[in-house]
Amino acid sequence: MTLNATQKGANRVVSDGRKWWKEQIIYQIYPRSFKDSTGNGIGDLRGIINQLDYIKNLGVTAVWINPIYASPNDDNGYDISDYRAILPEFGSMHDFDELLAGLHSRNIKFVMDLVVNHTSDEHYWFEQSRSSRDNPYRDYYHWWPAEQGKPNFRWSYFDEKGEAWKYDKQTDAYYLHYFSQKQPDLKWENPKVRQEVFDIMKFWAEKGVDGFRLDAFQFVSKDTSFPDLPESYKKDLSEVIKYHGMGPNIHEYLREMYNEVLSKYDVFAVSEGAGSSFEDAHDLVDEERNELQMAYHFEGVDLKKSVDNPPTCLDFKSLHTKWDKSFAHKGWISIFLANHDCPRMVSRFTNDSPKYREFASKLLNTFLLTMRGTPYCYFGDEIGMTNISFKDISEYQDIAAINGYKKAIHNNEDMTEFMRELTVFSRDNSRTPMQWDDTENAGFSDVQPWLKVNENKNVINVQLQNSMPNSVLNHFRNLTKLRNESSTLVYGEYELLLPEHESLYAYTRTDDNNQYLIILNFSNSEQVFDLSMLSGNQYEMIINSHSVNNHEINGELHLLPFQSVVIMVV
Ligand code: NOJ
Repeated sequence: MTLNATQKGANRVVSDGRKWWKEQIIYQIYPRSFKDSTGNGIGDLRGIINQLDYIKNLGVTAVWINPIYASPNDDNGYDISDYRAILPEFGSMHDFDELLAGLHSRNIKFVMDLVVNHTSDEHYWFEQSRSSRDNPYRDYYHWWPAEQGKPNFRWSYFDEKGEAWKYDKQTDAYYLHYFSQKQPDLKWENPKVRQEVFDIMKFWAEKGVDGFRLDAFQFVSKDTSFPDLPESYKKDLSEVIKYHGMGPNIHEYLREMYNEVLSKYDVFAVSEGAGSSFEDAHDLVDEERNELQMAYHFEGVDLKKSVDNPPTCLDFKSLHTKWDKSFAHKGWISIFLANHDCPRMVSRFTNDSPKYREFASKLLNTFLLTMRGTPYCYFGDEIGMTNISFKDISEYQDIAAINGYKKAIHNNEDMTEFMRELTVFSRDNSRTPMQWDDTENAGFSDVQPWLKVNENKNVINVQLQNSMPNSVLNHFRNLTKLRNESSTLVYGEYELLLPEHESLYAYTRTDDNNQYLIILNFSNSEQVFDLSMLSGNQYEMIINSHSVNNHEINGELHLLPFQSVVIMVV
């Protein structure tokens, strides 16, 4: 197909700060849900080892696995009781070493999840800390002596009442937990705590991991006087990031981490969360600050989080354009549309009905793999997995859902409304087992899995899609191949076209060598891309979500519902 051309290279900015970690395609694996090799219904490390060739064939170049450390699993591994041991359900340290070697031998990097805003209450440090007020570990956590009265209110994400201070009888004091009661917050203000964390990071860096994903990191630094906060904070959990995030010493701690660990190994670190402004985000990742390499912001996945008012194409493109603009000259961010804390991306941002979900998934994968920033692709999205949308609270496994339910009852909330929201936004939506085939447990396990398998495994599964040249899976592979071969898609300038168009998201990626035109039809109706706005060059369609050929008709390109295309200037 030939088209007329566009304004190639206008305001082109090509980053000269090329770095290996900017060029990765990261595949996120939720280990409980990927592949069970032992027949206990829970995914494990050997399950991942057995699928290394599948992972390699996806074309991804790095893998981030959610926490695999020893843990009582109050929050599925985000409550760690030993940072130098593997959760027995997942396997052994020997399995880990084999996994790492297997990834490296396939030229795939490994990113370790590092959860150090808090530990488990079953970690030795906390057991010691809570045992007496003069224990040497007392100052590893935030304690508030009861004789000083009740501490000022702080929000907790997973607490049944939403309160982050928990009274502990043993020493007549309250401890702080921004997440569940079993996840006490570490006191980073204590230099010994920081040294412990840096030692843990060195332990894993010595083993050869290539990066760290710093869980909940924006919360580590706190104003330890715990002042009273404005009424708006107390009423609205959405103010949490503003008040809990980016505390007074965070940059000092990060520079220490950089000097002690990150500068000494060939590793990168990405922070979960990027504060509440572009300035916060830049302060975390701008290279000359020597802190982190990347951050991921939540604006993309939090976009219009409302059941009745889902995000539109205009919302989507203006948000991603805004972030790209802010990082066009400096700094680096991650691009993601889903993870283990969000619903499935196709259910959230496009359309998961049987009629459209295949194309709607391809569209989102096209976006992820053609944007500037390091793409993070969540397992299962490469085959277009969808929300399971449990209806009954008994089906949920996630502490956020279960304790959220208790909190809603406690607060006399409208429970019908609460359940409606849970169905759409629950984290369990994205944690259902990987759909390998159409057998009873989707090829995930020989026995009933820890979380129900989505019934659409019969039509959405790896085995089926492997055999279909134009499946979501093979389309994903085409996209990763293209991105791996083209530094234009990594570093090239991004330019939004048609900013006001309500259904089409069109943009170019350009550097000195190439220019790509990407068009995504976010609607369930045919849309027309007017080529007359472009002039001068020839174009070639290189990736198309549909097997049909879209011919230019009188200077117009007609796109089918949810069609996405990548076109290259030749
Ligand atoms: C963010 C993680 O992504 C989430 O899964 C976890 O529950 C919280 N941090 C607490 O560690």
